[in-house]
Amino acid sequence: MPSRYPAHRAPLSNRWQPLAYREQAPQRYQPHPEHHDREHQRPTEDAPQASRPSKPSEPSRPSGPSKPPGQSKPSEPSPDTVLIRRTMAEIEPIADKVTSYFYALLFLRHPDLRALFPAAMDTQRDRLFKALLTAARHADDTATLTAYLSQLGRGHRKYGTSPAHYPAVGEALIGALSRHAPRTWDDATQAAWVRVYTVVSQIMIDAAAEDEKSSPPWWQAEIVGHEPRTRDIAVVTVRPDQPYPFLAGQYASVETPWWPREWRHYSFSSAPRSDGLLTFHVKAVPAGWVSGALVHRARPGDVIRLGPPAGSMVVDHRTDNGMLCLGGGTGIAPIKALVEDVARHGRSRPVEVFYGARHDGDLYDIDTMLRLQKSHRWLSVRPVISDGPTLGLSGELPQVVRKYGPWNAYDAFLSGPPGMVRSGVDTLVGIGIPSHRIRHDSIDELMASASR
Ligand SMILES: Cc1cc2nc3c(=O)[nH]c(=O)nc-3n(C[C@H](O)[C@H](O)[C@H](O)COP(=O)(O)OP(=O)(O)OC[C@H]3O[C@@H](n4cnc5c(N)ncnc54)[C@H](O)[C@@H]3O)c2cc1C
Ligand code: HEM
Repeated sequence: MPSRYPAHRAPLSNRWQPLAYREQAPQRYQPHPEHHDREHQRPTEDAPQASRPSKPSEPSRPSGPSKPPGQSKPSEPSPDTVLIRRTMAEIEPIADKVTSYFYALLFLRHPDLRALFPAAMDTQRDRLFKALLTAARHADDTATLTAYLSQLGRGHRKYGTSPAHYPAVGEALIGALSRHAPRTWDDATQAAWVRVYTVVSQIMIDAAAEDEKSSPPWWQAEIVGHEPRTRDIAVVTVRPDQPYPFLAGQYASVETPWWPREWRHYSFSSAPRSDGLLTFHVKAVPAGWVSGALVHRARPGDVIRLGPPAGSMVVDHRTDNGMLCLGGGTGIAPIKALVEDVARHGRSRPVEVFYGARHDGDLYDIDTMLRLQKSHRWLSVRPVISDGPTLGLSGELPQVVRKYGPWNAYDAFLSGPPGMVRSGVDTLVGIGIPSHRIRHDSIDELMASASR
């Protein structure tokens, strides 16, 4: 099959050059009214001056030549980053409007791209735009940026994205920003955004091209087991159509046949198995499209699609540090995978699991966890109940964990609803675990998706 991702090895200055010129004049894009529809709102005129948000406080304008993004120390933002932060400060209060405008511009100029996106984009659509802003915000931190964007670029293969699509997205981004940040937008700012977007897209394109050498863009996986555990939680086991390499603690994007192009993340609940099967714990959230389908509709024989594995909440086997694991709700799934990974690795280290749920009846996997505790003397499992009576520990997970310890010699792993992960991280940093030893799924991702 010919590669969608030919090697892009031209120097940066030669890449995606036309945009810098095409967009130099302030954008006043007028879409054709016929293109208006319910899903992609047509860009509207800006609100009158009086209703605009007040001018944000602006860092002073940088002077001197701009360093390429990704090459300054985080403590000294590069001139490009300073300009980008000025734009972001201006658009932050109207981010929703800028996002709608961005997509409207993209789809009006490139209607063919609409088919790559889900039919309804209400809950998801700010993620692409937010990621662009996140990437721009971390433009000076090369390592973080590269790791994040490489994973993103690999993951984009499942959408059918090709290198030719990137300039279209870049132009829509510049068009949306230039229109909605009139106070801070000028030629220097535009040049900074073009440089940063070029770096961002190149990292994604290169990662996708590299990935294409060894992996499919997605995997088909047949459901071979579907076990309801509570009214709204099911354990779903699938057999991928080809080997699916991943690490315990990671997650995959999942698309069901009932909601095409609606991809959601689910964590693997086991370490890699010799039979190649993968298992997920899915909780159907109220009115949730994908989770509802996986829990209430899916049956053995149905085929779902999986994106590549993602996530950095994995065990570092080079150390024997103790592991403190907090799993809330279905967040216990990747924690169980981590425990299996330690067991398989053969070098015992203390692993302390706190398993949180609202009520005793919500601890749907407690039997498995207690069985694991029985088999491994290095493992301790403590259920924690936040609402209602219990014979175990009661309270919010992070607060209960704080009463135990000391934890400063432990590496920490957190998985569960975004609120729990956030307050867990705060608590653990507060009691002396350095943040680089705390691993969890991205809070931004968790916020963008539903709670678990
Ligand atoms: C890294 C990562 C790993 C994840 N792992 C798992 C996992 O292992 N198991 C799992 O079950 N989920 C997991 N999730 C959450 C999962 O990705 C989906 O977000 C979730 O299943 C909801 O998707 P949906 O399509 O059913 O809901 P959507 O159709 O996206 O949402 C429907 C509506 O319900 C609202 N809603 C969402 N959640 C709730 C809630 N809890 N209560 C009330 N309303 C809600 C939404 O805001 C929306 O309005 C994970 C998320 C991330 C980011
Ligand atoms: C630098 C450029 C880009 C960035 C930073 C970016 C970022 C993102 C992010 C964070 C998501 C959310 C889901 C995920 O994590 O996969 C996403 C989804 C998506 N992106 Fe991109 N993207 C970029 C370029 C593109 C391009 C060029 C295309 C092709 C047109 C594209 C198409 C999509 C599609 C179809 C989705 C799924 C949308 C959804 O599920 O609602 N992206 N993108």
